[in-house]
Amino acid sequence: MSEKFLDALRCRIEDLDRDLLKLLNERATVSVKIGRLKAENSLSIYDREREASIFGYLADQNKGPLSASQIHKIFGEIIRVSRELQSITGDDSTAGIGEVSGTTAIYGILGNPVAHSMSPLMHNAAFRRLGINALYLPFEIEDLEGALAGMKALGIKGASVTHPFKRRVLSLTDEIDGTAETIGAVNTLVFEKGGIRGTNTDWVGAVKWLETLLPIEGRRFVVLGAGGAARAVVFGVMSKGGQVTVLNRSAARGKALADEFGCEFVPFAEVEKIRGDCLVNTTPVGMYPNIAQTPVSKGVLRHYRAVADAIYNPLKTLLLREAEAEGCKVASGFEMFLFQGTEQFALWTGEEPPVALMREVVLERLRAL
Ligand SMILES: NC(=O)c1ccc[n+]([C@@H]2O[C@H](COP(=O)([O-])OP(=O)(O)OC[C@H]3O[C@@H](n4cnc5c(N)ncnc54)[C@H](OP(=O)(O)O)[C@@H]3O)[C@@H](O)[C@H]2O)c1
Repeated sequence: MSEKFLDALRCRIEDLDRDLLKLLNERATVSVKIGRLKAENSLSIYDREREASIFGYLADQNKGPLSASQIHKIFGEIIRVSRELQSITGDDSTAGIGEVSGTTAIYGILGNPVAHSMSPLMHNAAFRRLGINALYLPFEIEDLEGALAGMKALGIKGASVTHPFKRRVLSLTDEIDGTAETIGAVNTLVFEKGGIRGTNTDWVGAVKWLETLLPIEGRRFVVLGAGGAARAVVFGVMSKGGQVTVLNRSAARGKALADEFGCEFVPFAEVEKIRGDCLVNTTPVGMYPNIAQTPVSKGVLRHYRAVADAIYNPLKTLLLREAEAEGCKVASGFEMFLFQGTEQFALWTGEEPPVALMREVVLERLRAL
């Protein structure tokens, strides 16, 4: 094989890549314009028929050597990015709720209190953006059993479950997936013909959140707290090959959690002696209105390269501010919240969630608090 010939082919590839890049950017510019027009005219970004017609047209035009499925894969990604660009471009035409009709699917959140929940804002914006005829409502309830029976009777499609019902709902579903059973909490309900299916997306949110800081496998995560958020974090980290040390104010609860998941437990008083790759706060210490509080002293933070706080109000807690000052990478619990929600959305609708939009609407609201 001649080296020169290979070089010439590589040059040709580089030329083609440059042309492609230019064309893709041109396409993106047009997409942004379309996004603006759609927003101005309150039109949905997601147009299933139009996208299907693009794939059909491309399949007809294709002369190979790329196969139809390869074309589908490549253009599927291009269209996904276009949707994302259009979502970011769009204005607040997604923020409210859409028109309600006789066929509107209803989803909601069960909790007490729920007035502060960002989930309705996030899911309704996503439904609107994708043109899905659905509505997500807050349900502040006391009678969980009665609420579930009512939701079944009303034909509600799905629900989020939050404090204080995540554990209690376990025994009230018709089916529970293994993950929710192991974590011992359900945060997502899917209402199906056969009954109510309970699952847990908090752990997926926790994994995606922590992965924004560092790879999980082989790393040690020091988790402060042993409540519901801690359970999702411990399960998520361990299922991705990380190691966990749990510290908790009440030793009995902390030890019970560590024994259940097969990880290490250390009393909170010994926090200064512990070392790890990432410190994860799952206690409410530092949450609004107690924003001047922090669960550990600055000295402790020196022993970590990353610090995550499950709290998302405020977006940057004192713990995260001090960790940043110590040179740590930090992640707000906002990301955990976002990703548990995007996972729920995908589960309920079977559609790819508009993550950029969901992030933006919640961030905007949190910044305004
Ligand atoms: N980002 C998200 O998506 C997300 C999801 C869920 C929760 N969260 C946040 O995570 C935090 C915990 O929620 P949770 O549902 O796990 O609550 P939880 O089940 O009530 O557990 C709270 C944990 O924090 C510990 N704790 C409470 N007050 C403390 C204090 N003053 N000092 C030391 N430890 C203390 C408790 O210790 P004891 O066992 O000794 O009582 C317990 O282990 C909240 O801020 C919540 O907003 C965020």
